[in-house]
Amino acid sequence: MDFNLTEEHLMIRDAARDFAQTELLPGVIERDNAQTFPESLVRKMGELGFLGIMVDPKYGGSGMDAISYVLIMEELSKVDASASVMVSVNNSLVCYGLEAYGSEAQKEKYLSKLATGECIGAFCLSEPEAGSDATSQKTTAIDKGDHYVLNGTKNWITNGGRAEVYLVIAQTDKHKGSHGINAFIVEKGMPGFDIGPKEDKLGIRGSDTHTLQFNDVKVPKENRIGDDGFGFRFAMKTLSGGRIGIAAQALGIAAGAYELALKYSKERKAFGTEICNHQAIAFKLADMHTEIEAARMLVMKAAWDKDQGNNYDMSSAMAKLYASKVAMEHTVEAVQIHGGNGFVKEYHVERLMRDAKITQIYEGTTEIQKIVISRGIIKD
Ligand code: CAA
Repeated sequence: MDFNLTEEHLMIRDAARDFAQTELLPGVIERDNAQTFPESLVRKMGELGFLGIMVDPKYGGSGMDAISYVLIMEELSKVDASASVMVSVNNSLVCYGLEAYGSEAQKEKYLSKLATGECIGAFCLSEPEAGSDATSQKTTAIDKGDHYVLNGTKNWITNGGRAEVYLVIAQTDKHKGSHGINAFIVEKGMPGFDIGPKEDKLGIRGSDTHTLQFNDVKVPKENRIGDDGFGFRFAMKTLSGGRIGIAAQALGIAAGAYELALKYSKERKAFGTEICNHQAIAFKLADMHTEIEAARMLVMKAAWDKDQGNNYDMSSAMAKLYASKVAMEHTVEAVQIHGGNGFVKEYHVERLMRDAKITQIYEGTTEIQKIVISRGIIKD
């Protein structure tokens, strides 16, 4: 067992850290206030290879491993979780989904553009009445021979307005339950595909979240991913990798808040000394440091499982469950350590606290991760 990162991993982490500090940090407060998508940064992230991190270079990707992916996600998320969720969805839900389960024609047509940032993608599973209960899809896809006709609504879709390529999960035969669900590639601009207004959110306000509407959208049969009825398994398998990305995002949010709180506590004085010298603050820092490191170990283990070809359903659920809890709890503590300044936007920690909450909700709530973990334990 070796806990050291390789030279290559350290270089990748440093490149992501440098990009986050020089490119994401300026303007992050303004983007959060105005709910603006970091548009100009998408091209730069594409050039750095951050949008197709694990994709094979023959499809335009960076050919890196999952450890590199989580290192990049942690560094971006320390500064701007709105940018990092775009990176996570594009990498682990869209690019991975297509590379692992798409046909060669689908990969040639879509993957290269997605991996380089020429296009970005969205993953459309959630519905008004099917969030956690993902098998209860109301969106229908009726088989019409050479094409399917899609009808329904998808909610809270990350990259919803900005994407060009959408992976849409829909019910083709409700009598078959989860085996009657398929996944389709839908392109922006297909007749009947409408994008609703942007959501006004508590956190990750710079990310582009929309409701999508499908009204008799004709999707060619060659746009179905995998065999008939594979859609639910496609979603579950893809989400297992997505949860590694969101776990790394939660880790980055927690670590970013901790680093700010530590720095502040060494500068701010009260009762004649820097506040880090008061045990009330020092013990908070000790808890934060320890639990963030524990979350990092779980995130790394899940990424390592993926790289080794091991099943990572449980390790990704455990990483997401714990890292998101740590992110929520310790961003609150980071605000507390900052006192009145913590409540002010220019100190960044209030934004990280707001951003932390979504990591306990999307790509499977905390409660869903506990279902996955407990079923895994009982089955073994
Ligand atoms: N791999 C392969 N197959 C799987 C699987 C996996 N990880 N998980 C389940 N399956 C299979 C099961 O084996 C079962 O197959 P059989 O019928 O052949 O036995 C079938 O799928 C149905 O599975 P379950 O009976 O376990 O289904 P369930 O209704 O009990 O639901 C669940 C399971 C884990 C709760 C699932 O519904 C779930 O993960 N829900 C959460 C959905 C979610 O994460 N949504 C996030 C939205 S996407 C998002 O947030 C993206 C974004 O924009 C940021």
